[in-house]
Amino acid sequence: MDRRDFLKTAAILPIALNIGGGSMLSKIPLNLDKVKKEGIDKEILRAGIIAELDAINLYEQMAAMTTNENIRKILLDIAKEEKTHVGEFHALLLKEDKEQEKEMEEGKKEVKEITGK
Ligand SMILES: [Fe+2]
Repeated sequence: MDRRDFLKTAAILPIALNIGGGSMLSKIPLNLDKVKKEGIDKEILRAGIIAELDAINLYEQMAAMTTNENIRKILLDIAKEEKTHVGEFHALLLKEDKEQEKEMEEGKKEVKEITGK
């Protein structure tokens, strides 16, 4: 993504997401009306992961854009914190979604088989 594309993306970021009548600034695709009750927590956790990953990309892209060293440092520090948030949501998701936990391990094995690492 070049800078012009990034600015276009940044311009559309504040799209309202309605959850329970409330509004959040996000473009995360989550429509709780279409989720079965037993799946809501997993959907919320996945949406949380998406939001945090999106935030990491945004902060890292902005850090790459600025020429102000202080802003760059803070953006990268915040991006790092968002990685912790990904880990928090992911840890919870693995507790809630045992299939995901199993497939995560399968994915690791496949990577090791294919790359040898
Ligand atoms: Fe976060």
